[in-house]
Parts: sequence; C-alpha cells; structure tokens
Amino acid sequence: MEGSKADGTLVVTGIGELATARGFTAKSGPSMRELARVKEAAIVVLRGEIAFAGPEADPGFAAAAEEAMASGAARVDARGAACVPGFVDSHTHFIFAGFREDEFFWRLSGMPYMEIHRKGGGIRRTMEATRAASAQDLREAGAERLSRMLSLGVTTVEGKSGYGLDFPTELRQLEAMRDLAASQPVRIVPTYMGAHSTPPEFEGRPGDYIDFLIKDCLPEVAAWGLARFADVFCEKGVFGIEDSRRYLLAARNLGLEPKLHADEVVSLGGAGLAAEVFAISADHLLKASPKDLDAMAEAGVVATCLPLTAFSLREPYADARGMIDRGLALALASDMNPGSCYSQSIPMIFALATVAMGLSFEETLVALTLNGAAALGMANRIGSVEAGKRGDFLLLDAPKPEHLAYHFGMNLVAQAFIGGVRAL
Ligand code: NIG
Ligand code: FE
Repeated sequence: MEGSKADGTLVVTGIGELATARGFTAKSGPSMRELARVKEAAIVVLRGEIAFAGPEADPGFAAAAEEAMASGAARVDARGAACVPGFVDSHTHFIFAGFREDEFFWRLSGMPYMEIHRKGGGIRRTMEATRAASAQDLREAGAERLSRMLSLGVTTVEGKSGYGLDFPTELRQLEAMRDLAASQPVRIVPTYMGAHSTPPEFEGRPGDYIDFLIKDCLPEVAAWGLARFADVFCEKGVFGIEDSRRYLLAARNLGLEPKLHADEVVSLGGAGLAAEVFAISADHLLKASPKDLDAMAEAGVVATCLPLTAFSLREPYADARGMIDRGLALALASDMNPGSCYSQSIPMIFALATVAMGLSFEETLVALTLNGAAALGMANRIGSVEAGKRGDFLLLDAPKPEHLAYHFGMNLVAQAFIGGVRAL
C-alpha cells in the first residue's frame, strides 16, 4: 500500500465480503437483522467521505475510482479480507487516573458494587486520584487507552467526565478529550457527567450538589462547547428520579442532550425518565421494567447494553434479546472505567452478545456500529459503509465477517481507516 493521503482519498479493492448496515438512522426491532452483504467489494473515499461502496464490478466503482485516482488516492488491496464499519463505542469513562484492582477482587469475594460505593470506595477513590492528576497525566493515560481501542477496531468513542466532581477537574477531563481529539485519529465524543456521584463537599446532600451543577457547571460546559451530552448516574443511593430530571432538563435547555445510567442496580425508573425527557440513550438497563422499555421504544431512545459490566459485576445480562423483540434500537458499548468494568474488549462484547445474550451476528454488528452511532446522534455521519458516510471501516484478518463472533475472544482487526485515512 502507498501511504494514505492525509486528506482521506482512498481506493480499496479486493474485499472478500463487506458487511454493513445501511441507513442514516438507528435500526430498531427486526430491522436490526438487515445487513447488506457485498462479495468482491470495493470502497472509494473522497476527502474523508465514502463516494462508493459496493461490488467492484459495478460501473459506479470505476467512475468513482477514476476521480479518486485523479486526486492522487492511496490504494489498498484487501486481498480477500472481510470488511465491516469501524466500531462505535458509545459509552466509556476512559479519562481517569489510578486503578481499583483491589475492588475487583473484593467483588469476586462477594462484596456488592454499591456497598463499596457506600463505604467511600468506588467512584470516590477514582475522583481523588483524578483530582491529583495533571492535565498531561490524563492526556497520556487517555492516549494509551485510545490506542488500545483503535487496535480493537474502535474508530469513534464516547468519553465521560465524572471523576472530578469539582469543576476544575471535570474541565480537565473534558479538555483532555478535546486535546486528544486533535492529536490522534480516533473520533472522540465528549459527555459531561458531573452527576456521577455526590462529592465529599456535598456529603449527604445530592440535591444541593445538583443545584450547584445546574447553576455553576452546566452553563460553563455548554458555553465552552466542551461536551455534546450530559449524563447522570440515576440510581438508588446516588441520584434519584427528581434530581436526575432537573439536571437533564437544565442540560437540555443549554443544548446538552440527555443520557442516563439507568436501572443498573435496582429498578428505579431511570428508563422511564429517559423516555420522558427524550434522552438520546439510556444505558445499563439491567433492571429496567417492561413498561419503561416500551416507553423508550415509543420515544425513540436508544437502549445501550453494557455486557462487560454485567460480566464484571457477575450480574445477569440485560435482556437485550427482549429489548430488540419489543422494537427497541439496541446499542452495545464497553463502559470502560476503572471500577465496574476495566475493559474495552470489543471481541468479548461480540462473544457475550452472541453466546450469552442470544443476539444474532447481524444484530451484534449493528449494535456496535450504526446503533452506537445513533446513541451519539451521529448515525447520519458514521456507523455504516455507504456513500455519504465518513470513511470509517475495518479490514479483518478473516475471510468472513461472522468470524468476529465465531473466532471468539480474538482480535481480528488487521487495518482500520478513519475518514479514509489509515489509522491502524
Ligand atoms: O457505568 N455506574 C456508574 N458509573 C460507572 C462506574 C464508575 C466506577 O465504578 O468508577 C458505570 O458502571
Ligand atoms: Fe458507565
């Protein structure tokens, strides 16, 4: 291969099989099983945007390739490799300092996650380490995690603040993501999560802390354009429905779209709140009630399941099968964080989704690509390999896309392109 042109003009030929959802909005219910498959495929990307994706024998390919070649396109021979869209990890907390490996083993010995949280472990420990970390510490740790994600095929990642819980540290987390977005290839979508836990300064007064976020923090984050979404840990013992609602509506008024950590530990009604405020997604959902899930489907809220977290907490997996069957758009994401889920393993998500949660290969791929994009309000730009989308796709060290599930637990990503530029 010649060096990819920095402007993302690229011609890829020799793809054994391309598998991708098609469309510019989320796929819900039975449509999650619809995957376009093209044998002997080719892709042409012009200045970052896909101009053609289809059979190499299609006359449209020759025309698009000619234009790309005239602009000095980079050329790649995929040599029969399978191709899928880049993965969109739509829920992570990848900017943090310090680790909590001891808590992992406490949990394995039977101590519940929320008991560790109540005793001042959990999020508060990472808050202390993150407050003590410099901007450069956070950037460096973030860069390493991003490079591991990219090696696993993640081309877009959402990242949340929420380990500062004081304003300067929350800003440092968001600024680390802004700086990383400019210095490495993975697309980063930042979320403000001041409402992750009540900090020691507001001990026992979550309502007062939410008042502070609404009055002093959300307006600044919005004014500086440092986040696209606002998220809240809506959970018994963290933030209740009322406080979550106030925070999310204030965020929405400032242009930050709502997201929720909902019904993870107990059935509190977070999924119902997500429907009420028309959140872009509600995530976790291990204990979401059928009624609230139906309300989410009605409101068009993406249901994001985080199987690595359920695995790590030894909780039963969310009923992702039932969610699709009741018509929801399902996304799958890692939830990578130092506490409940220290992993960004896309191969393990594939394995758990197909073997343990009853999803088909097609549903799993859509959940990790187009629907992940929809959970970030970006399904019109990324999440599928088709004309009009950004040139974000993967070449696999496998003859068929199904090997992502069949060759389980293995990383099959050989090459990754972001905006038509080779990133891996
Ligand atoms: O999504 N549930 C709340 N927040 C994170 C965990 C954060 C932590 O334990 O550090 C989650 O699981
Ligand atoms: Fe999370």
